[in-house]
Amino acid sequence: VQPLRLAPSILSADFSRLGEEVRAIEAGGADLVHFDVMDNHYVPNLTIGPLVFQAIRPHVGIPIDVHLMVEPVDALIPQFAKAGANIISFHPEASRHVDRTLALIREHGCQAGLALNPATPLAWLDQVMERLDMVLLMSVNPGFGGQAFIPSTLAKLRQVRQRLDAYADTTGRRIWLEVDGGVKVDNIAAIVAAGADTCVAGSAVFGAPDADGGYRGVLRALRQ
Ligand code: DX5
Ligand code: ZN
Repeated sequence: VQPLRLAPSILSADFSRLGEEVRAIEAGGADLVHFDVMDNHYVPNLTIGPLVFQAIRPHVGIPIDVHLMVEPVDALIPQFAKAGANIISFHPEASRHVDRTLALIREHGCQAGLALNPATPLAWLDQVMERLDMVLLMSVNPGFGGQAFIPSTLAKLRQVRQRLDAYADTTGRRIWLEVDGGVKVDNIAAIVAAGADTCVAGSAVFGAPDADGGYRGVLRALRQ
């Protein structure tokens, strides 16, 4: 069994102190930094892009997991790759040519992830398994932090876990399975039991009270 990877989403960080915030989650034991890019077109919210990414990259020693919620996708991939992204995920509905976009991410030296919304069918995975390094399963509708975990995600998660295990059995290649949205201390055990090996947590991490040990305390609680 692979150890759980925790990926705090900086969407819920204090944007006036992003450098400090990413250093603090890394010091607190985060495995990845999750960087949510929203364009007010594919999703109804607007966040941060390559310029902010470049500004924080030197402050981060752990890998950065870039979640593109943008349409179109392709033009941003070289920019994030050159700026030091490690994993880049996008939503298949937002790309005209999913296979080409996945190849583009790998050509730029990054790991490629496909992000599936709660209502997006798993059939999107059928033809592209060999192009994938990660499946990002959304457990909320993308666009905002702080939403409630959608319970039907657990059944979908078990289905993806089965597929990825069957794929690993035949090919010897492991694909990561990340869950994103509404992950909290009180539901993470069920999420991991259903098959997630990587969990994003935004509001749960950045909203953690100092009295409970701050970021280090909540990351430890999530891991336990
Ligand atoms: C939602 C984003 C998530 C979100 C997670 O569109 O992709 O990464 O920030 O935040 P929480 O953990 O607060 O649901
Ligand atoms: Zn995300």
